[in-house]
This record gives sequence, structure tokens and C-alpha cells, in this order.
Amino acid sequence: MARFRRFALEDTDHLIREMDALNRRLPISDNLGILGETVSLGNRTLPNRFVIQPMEGVDADPVDGSPSDLTFRRYRRYAEGGSGLIWAEAVSVVPEGCSNSKQLRLRPDNLDVFKCLIDETRQAARDALGHDITMIVQLTHSGRFSRPGGAAAPLKAQNNPWLDDFLGMGDLEPVSDDYLDSLQDDFVRTAELALQAGFDGVDMKAVHGYLAAELLGAHRREGKYGGSYENRTRFLRETTKGMMESLSTGVIITTRMTVLEPCPYPYGWGVKPVPGDSWELDLTEPKRLMSECLEAGMPIFNVSMGFPRFQPYLNRPHDNTLVGQDDPPEYPLLGVIRYQEAVREMQSVDQNCPLPTAGLTWLRHLMPQVAAGLVEEGWCSLIGLGRSAFAYPDLPKDLLTTGGVSRSKCCTTCSMCTQIMKDGVGRTGCVIRDREVYGPELKRGRRAAV
Ligand SMILES: Cc1cc2nc3c(=O)[nH]c(=O)nc-3n(C[C@H](O)[C@H](O)[C@H](O)COP(=O)(O)O)c2cc1C
Ligand code: SF4
Repeated sequence: MARFRRFALEDTDHLIREMDALNRRLPISDNLGILGETVSLGNRTLPNRFVIQPMEGVDADPVDGSPSDLTFRRYRRYAEGGSGLIWAEAVSVVPEGCSNSKQLRLRPDNLDVFKCLIDETRQAARDALGHDITMIVQLTHSGRFSRPGGAAAPLKAQNNPWLDDFLGMGDLEPVSDDYLDSLQDDFVRTAELALQAGFDGVDMKAVHGYLAAELLGAHRREGKYGGSYENRTRFLRETTKGMMESLSTGVIITTRMTVLEPCPYPYGWGVKPVPGDSWELDLTEPKRLMSECLEAGMPIFNVSMGFPRFQPYLNRPHDNTLVGQDDPPEYPLLGVIRYQEAVREMQSVDQNCPLPTAGLTWLRHLMPQVAAGLVEEGWCSLIGLGRSAFAYPDLPKDLLTTGGVSRSKCCTTCSMCTQIMKDGVGRTGCVIRDREVYGPELKRGRRAAV
């Protein structure tokens, strides 16, 4: 494994030399115009290939989960920045499934605030760029990582010694089948509200170790939600089917699905079915499930991998870690390549499915050429912006109008936005490129943590 080093790449020639040294490859292209192409999504047309990936801002009203002024500001900046698709962040479907006290919650009594958020965001895109955007919202239950009101109150899908030992959850009973049955209804009800609020579509979040993702690897769970492939995927398949039946045709129902829950078999997902103390990536089941989801009527799909809590290097390669943590165990460029290779494998399930990638932010000013290469060679069809959405929301506009991006606006992968989340006090965004707003938020959390 290539040892950890921080980003020091000057240009694409330099990047190619580094990849040659690793004996790995990412496609690179100067055909940046490809990123401005329109893309069909069901009965809609995306104005370009850029997608804001879901990024929790932990800035909702702690009392009722309504979007706050800072939420409005974030979404306005995304819209004005030019991305054609905004994949809105995780919104909890039940109070006990919130990841923190300031996670967004969509409820009948705050529907009007969400309506305003969506109207203003769409209008901001029209005013700034004259185009219409598509908005999908991610619905979630945080499972093991639930912290409603800010205090840990985990709900797990199965007994898993790898996670239970690490998180001190050995004594916790897995949630019952009855709980999951009624949670399906909560997802469908919240999806109905999302449509009333004005979203174009709904994503059932099944990624990053949260409840629906953990169920995918629940080989040892008893009952109808565990054991066989059919049972482990039941919660995702039945819930999204329920959404499709309850919402009108033309509404986008989709999922951001994990391709890897990295635990040794029989506890992981996307891992080779070989018992032992380690895991190896095997996308057979994730590809099968993606194929079934598309057949069932999902017009778009999204993926990610790993537990951000334990292996952030897998899904957001970075130069700096959280306070008190060791440096990443590998050269972040390897993480970028691994992620893109997994996305390419998933895109191969259906080359016509709009599939956004992510994990490109570490590449900074070299991201556009790699993004263009990925699209040109069919590794993915859309380019997702995660941390770049916080640091440099107008990257798409700059690129598509001037042909270049500004190095001084790029995310430095310093992890301070994640530090704010971890500290659990502040509201998050880019501490480096949006310092006036988020510098004080970081300080508040750090002071509380110390
Ligand atoms: C602060 C923060 C919040 C995030 N919130 C979400 C979320 O709500 N839902 C989700 O699926 N991914 C979430 N992610 C992951 C991103 O969507 C994205 O996959 C990841 O940052 C890698 O992309 P990047 O290299 O462009 O940052 C979050 C990441 C960060 C750093
Ligand atoms: S705080 Fe800003 S620069 Fe640092 S990782 Fe987050 S978005 Fe990037």
C-alpha cells in the first residue's frame, strides 16, 4: 500500500506520473465541454452533469428540524453555483433515527418551510443561470449512529461483533421486525411529504452504515429481514416499492446504496463470502441489487462506500484527519482511484443509467480533467460534488463559463467540516473557504469538546 502523503500535484502530467508509479490509472481528458452536456433523467433534462451530493449541514432548527437561515443559504449557493441536480442531504423519517439534534426533519407542520426552501433554491438557479434544476431528497434512519437530541441512542440491525465491540453495543438487542415494518410506513409517509414540499424525487438512504445499509449485510439476523439475499434486501426493495405505489408516476424514487460495508464475512456487504478476519471487495450482490432496483423503475442510482466513522479514507480521501486521529493509512490518490473503480463497476450494470460518482474532491484543481475522462470513458455519467459543494459551490459555473477552476477556491480536504459534525455543537460548512460563517462554528464545537 502506498504510504500517506499530502496532495502536491501541479498538473495532469504530474498526476499521470504518480498514477504510473502506483501502476493504476484514471482516465483524463481535456474535453471539459462534456461536463456541460445535458442528461436525461426520466421525464426531466438535467442542464449539465454536475450533482451536489448529499451533505449534512447540521443546521436545522433543533426543536422541529426545519431548515434554518443557514440551510437556505447553503442551498441558494448550490443553485447559484450551477449544478443541475441537487441531491439534498439526509432528512430523518423518525425522531429516534436522527443523527444529531440539528438534522433536518420533514413533518406536516414544517412543510411550508421546506416549500419555501425548494422554491427559493429553484428560483436562485433560474436567476443566476436561467436553467431549471432537479431536486432529490435523501430520507434516512441513522441506526447505530442515531443521536436524537445530541446523545447516543443506537438502534442496530444485527449483532455484529466487529461493530459491537468497537462501539460498545454488544448488549443492545437488534430492532424487531415489527419496528422495521412500521418504519417502512414512516419512509413512505415522509416521501409523500417530500413530494408535497416540491422535491422531484426521493432517495432512500442505504449507505455509510446507517440502518438500511446495515440490513444489507445482516446475514446473521433472524426473521424476514436477515439471512438470505432476498431477506437482507427486503427492507430497501419493499420500502422503495411502497414509495413507487404511493407516489404518482414521474416522481423519481431512488437510493444511495452502499457498495461496501467493510466487515469480514458474514457481517459485511460487498465483501467476498469467505469467513475470516479480513474482507475483500466483491460487488456481485451490490450489482445484482442495483440491477433489480433499475428494473423496478428507479431512473437514477447513487452509490458510496465504507463507514465514514471508521474508514473515512475509503469514501472521502483527505489530507488531514480529525483531532486526535492518526494520518490516513494510505496515499489519498489510491482512495480516489479505488472509489472510481467501484463506480465504474456499478455503472457497467447499465451504461444508460445516470450514475453520479463522488470522492473526487481531493484532486482539487485537477478534478475537471479527471471528471471529463471518467464521463468520456463511461466510468460514470454524472459528477458528484461532496466537500467541493461546501468549499466551492460555484465550481460548475466557473468551469462551464470560463473553462477553468480557481485553485484558491478548492477544498483542501482539511476535515474541519467533519470535525464540526463530530463535536456536535456547531453547524457545518467550509471552515477554510467560507471562514467568516463557519470559523466561529468550529470554535464553538472545539471549545465544548475541550
Ligand atoms: C460534512 C459531510 C456531510 C455529509 N453528509 C452526507 C449525507 O447527508 N448523505 C450522504 O449520503 N453522504 C454524505 N456525505 C458524503 C458525501 O456526500 C460524499 O460522498 C463524500 O464527501 C465524498 O465526496 P467528495 O470527495 O466530493 O467530498 C457527507 C460528507 C461530509 C464531509
Ligand atoms: S472545511 Fe472546507 S476545506 Fe476543509 S474539508 Fe471541509 S469543505 Fe474542504
